[in-house]
Amino acid sequence: MMRKTTSVFLGFAFLLLLTAGSIDLGNLFNYYGLAVPAYITKDNAPAPNAADNMRATLGRVLFYDARLSVNNAISCASCHKQEFAFGDTAVRSVGHTGGLTGRHSMRLINARFATETRFFWNERASSLDDQTSQPIQDAVEMGFSGQGGQPGIDSLIRKLESIPEYPALFQLAFGSPDISEMYIQRALSTFLRSIASFDSKFDVGLAQAPNLGAPFPNFSAQENNGKNLFLTPPPAGAGCQGCHRGPEFDIDPNSRNNNIVAVAGGQPGQLDLGNTRSPSLRDLVNPAGQLNGPLMHDGSKTSLMQVIDHYNLIVPVPGNTNLDPRLAGPQNQGQNLNLSNADKTALIAFLRTLSGTAVYTAEQWSNPFDANGNIDFIGLPLSTQASASFSWKVYPNPSSDWLKVELPQGLTAELTVTNAQGQVIRKVGSSAGFVLNVQELPAGIYQVRIQDAQGKTWVKKWMKQ
Ligand code: HEC
Ligand code: HEC
Repeated sequence: MMRKTTSVFLGFAFLLLLTAGSIDLGNLFNYYGLAVPAYITKDNAPAPNAADNMRATLGRVLFYDARLSVNNAISCASCHKQEFAFGDTAVRSVGHTGGLTGRHSMRLINARFATETRFFWNERASSLDDQTSQPIQDAVEMGFSGQGGQPGIDSLIRKLESIPEYPALFQLAFGSPDISEMYIQRALSTFLRSIASFDSKFDVGLAQAPNLGAPFPNFSAQENNGKNLFLTPPPAGAGCQGCHRGPEFDIDPNSRNNNIVAVAGGQPGQLDLGNTRSPSLRDLVNPAGQLNGPLMHDGSKTSLMQVIDHYNLIVPVPGNTNLDPRLAGPQNQGQNLNLSNADKTALIAFLRTLSGTAVYTAEQWSNPFDANGNIDFIGLPLSTQASASFSWKVYPNPSSDWLKVELPQGLTAELTVTNAQGQVIRKVGSSAGFVLNVQELPAGIYQVRIQDAQGKTWVKKWMKQ
């Protein structure tokens, strides 16, 4: 038993060592290979195509790259953290120079599996592609607003063009090294749309049940009771399904606001009436059962009980001209669900079944940069002119005593060997070929990099036994 635990742990550590800071372009993740259950029918995205794995890979790099902010301070992932279902625990997130966002950061789970095609709490982005470049151009968030002395997105594009890896990655993803806002959007949206979470207790149950309304065999009586209350309209139930429509738990595109109308971080009495979108109600809590962050656009709800209490008794806020009629109650006096304590805890127990596990740690959605902010792209020709027939050899691979690097006839290049942490282990000046004694190097994965006189670079992976 002891031995097994140890070897599992070592295996995991080795995997981390192997993957931290490197992306093997010859062996991409299958971003859309995850099985989507048959009962998931809502999908607001174009059908995935063959280029999507490369585009999502580029999107992953962009999502985690702090160079997308003016001062290299924050990335998308600073506010959308994988460990919190791509949300944030802060009520308002911190932007590139310390300013706070105007609303709470949204979780980004299953964005694609919805009828609603508009994004943000107030649905001001007309599509996910349109959404993805807005944080970049937000004066507080990433700072390429083009206003108030800030540079515009064109200077981000020039910045990315000057980083050798990016034109090469855009070439692979879109067939051209030219970077544009449209391709940045598409790479990011392809990555975001791949984020899927369908391994919850709810999914296990629905797969075993004839339909959503039938009792789930894997649910406790309390969870099944909570499910009934969620699905059933008032007065018999709580009516959540009318707006958060399972099994996707996406928002009803016709929803108006839910009487949460405060301005995030604002003064009492200030109103923010336009928030009619919610992210999927999946993954409100993490696998350990803790909330992935405060809830609602103003982050005002810090427990599921507070959410249920809110809906149990809705007293329309004076001046709320956009309250959804389903919550307005008779004579617009507000809704009173008259939920008992047992009803409330049952609803909460049900909401907790909607969380998955894999999405919190899956490598394809994780930070690809190492601790020093580097990624080694294995198999990336760092010049768009590099010809496909260009071949060079690193052998034996794996090896324990000697490492030979053979270059094509006529090419001289410099050689660099880096370890899995990105540290340079060996550097050899320009030559037409190399033989290195590697006996004393620790076993592990290394990167062998050659660079010619024009600065073109090629990388291969090599393993020391
Ligand atoms: C400084 C924090 C911050 C950064 C950086 C940031 N976001 Fe956001 N994100 C937010 C906030 C806050 C919202 C909700 C804003 C609103 O609705 O007004 C949001 C909303 C979103 C949404 C809408 C989700 C939905 O369901 O409607 C998407 C998608 C998104 N962000 C993607 C990104 C991407 C891609 C990047 C990087 C290019 C990024 N974000 C950078 C804070 C941030
Ligand atoms: C009339 C439509 C409507 C109904 C009915 C409704 N909601 Fe909502 N819900 C919304 C809207 C709109 C939001 C986003 C509100 C905001 O933040 O301003 C929301 C937000 C939420 C959130 C926060 C999501 C997040 O990511 O922060 C939770 C949790 C939630 N609702 C649960 C429920 C439950 C449980 C019920 C049933 C008791 C319910 N809702 C009934 C429209 C509705």
